[in-house]
Amino acid sequence: MSHTHAHDKIEKNIGLMAILIAVAVSFGGLAEIVPLMFQAEAIKPLPGVKPYPALELAGRDVYIREGCYNCHSQMVRTLRFETERYGHYSLAGESVYDHPFQWGSKRTGPDLARVGLRGYSADWHRAHLNDPRDVVPESNMPAYPWLAGHKLDGAEIARHMRALQRVGDPYTDAEIAAAPAAVEGKTELDAVVAYLQGLGTHLSKADDQVQQGED
Ligand code: HEC
Repeated sequence: MSHTHAHDKIEKNIGLMAILIAVAVSFGGLAEIVPLMFQAEAIKPLPGVKPYPALELAGRDVYIREGCYNCHSQMVRTLRFETERYGHYSLAGESVYDHPFQWGSKRTGPDLARVGLRGYSADWHRAHLNDPRDVVPESNMPAYPWLAGHKLDGAEIARHMRALQRVGDPYTDAEIAAAPAAVEGKTELDAVVAYLQGLGTHLSKADDQVQQGED
């Protein structure tokens, strides 16, 4: 049978076999990736989700610099016990302005994707970051007392916003020009607290639309 002969040839020619295996495997990849490129909903920001304001963006930078992601994920999974503890599960459209995203899976501490909805005051966050044991005696989270002593650099934040604008975040030139004034006199602690208080709140504003779109 000619069919069998063709197979014999392929199996004896390792180069050809490697190429054909690569082709076969890429079909799987294509079938998964290509539809995403055309599926606008997967990558469009949800209504209410906007690029981070200057102060929150600065806070996010500190969050990354301090390695908070080593202990905190920012992704609520679609499991019942997760949504009951943390709130609505995370949606791709919430993370479009996160470069890079902070999803993660390491949870020494709780997930922070919706921490802005937990009702902590700014003062609680300040005390907690300065020394977690002042407010949660059994906490093993490290203290970050230096954040309060570091002033933000407005020009640097404006440059960061400019870079994000280049990669497609819809910051206006006016917003970027206003950034140094917006963070004038603020500290890294102010910035992290503003960032934490904003986490998860964008979705809740869009929540009605999201719930409607679900079924
Ligand atoms: C070594 C692990 C670790 C690191 C690093 C860490 N945390 Fe935590 N975090 C925890 C633990 C454990 C808790 C729970 C106990 C508590 O509330 O202090 C927690 C709690 C929190 C909470 C309260 C969450 C809630 O829902 O009650 C916030 C907010 C928080 N961390 C923010 C941060 C920020 C911001 C950073 C970086 C500056 C950070 N954490 C770094 C371990 C960590």
